[in-house]
Amino acid sequence: MTEATIIDGNRFSAGLRDRIASEVHALRETRHITPGLAVVLVGEDPASQVYVRTKHKRTVEVGMESFVHTLPVDTPEDELLTLIAGLNKDPAVHGILVQLPLPRQIDAQKVIEAIDPAKDVDGFHPVNVGRLASGGEALIPCTPFGSLLLLRDHLGDLSGLDAVVVGRSNIVGKPMAQLLIRESCTVTVAHSRTRDLPDVVRRADIVIAAVGKPGMIRGDWLKPGCTVIDVGINRVANPDGTSRLVGDVAFDEAVKVAGAITPVPGGVGPMTIACLLRNTLVACARQHRIALDKSL
Ligand code: GUN
Repeated sequence: MTEATIIDGNRFSAGLRDRIASEVHALRETRHITPGLAVVLVGEDPASQVYVRTKHKRTVEVGMESFVHTLPVDTPEDELLTLIAGLNKDPAVHGILVQLPLPRQIDAQKVIEAIDPAKDVDGFHPVNVGRLASGGEALIPCTPFGSLLLLRDHLGDLSGLDAVVVGRSNIVGKPMAQLLIRESCTVTVAHSRTRDLPDVVRRADIVIAAVGKPGMIRGDWLKPGCTVIDVGINRVANPDGTSRLVGDVAFDEAVKVAGAITPVPGGVGPMTIACLLRNTLVACARQHRIALDKSL
């Protein structure tokens, strides 16, 4: 039996980062503008620390300025809002990302709404959410946008395909559904209350798994030949006490049924950071009213 094509997010994201680096180089040479990304981390969550370090490294690699602000876990909400107000005004900062989750004393929605929508490279501000839903110049959430780039690269035109998005979060599920509607897919959003989830998933030409439950989506839930995008990044324990990362899809089963599948790690993960850099470049260009290469 033929196994699914493995969709290589490392390869695709490296190509995208190269194209971004070329555009950044051109901006610096011809306009003397360096795109700048500010990342704010509150507290010491180890997974968040790893993400922020990786974002800093990739930002510098493409020739952008990286401003990392690390605040203690007990930072009052007011202090974070004051920092954001300063970043909104700072002309060297074109993109702002506040790493989630935030400590309990801070209202995440209030923080998201404090970011200037033009600098909201996460695409979480209600202005960007609304523009994605209704048309207009949105900044698009990075993980769904990266997933869409992989789908387009593998399948070409998506119009008319049945897509099932499993998960309805603001970060992935909901914006993913909007993007797939924009691509003229027939979109179903399934979630923890969905009845007969395996039957719903079995209808799909495209499955987006974004539930945060290791291996939840089984091989026999899939339509043969479908394309699977696994957004899950779950750390699970090995019998010998070490740990490994797995997705939301039971990969060893799914690879025997699907036509194509993203691995974890090495699928959607690297696309998220590449799309963050892309959004920073797009935000910078819009702030300076400069047209960018359409392939970005
Ligand atoms: N934490 C996990 N994913 C994300 C993301 O896409 N953006 C931010 N800001 N925090 C996250």
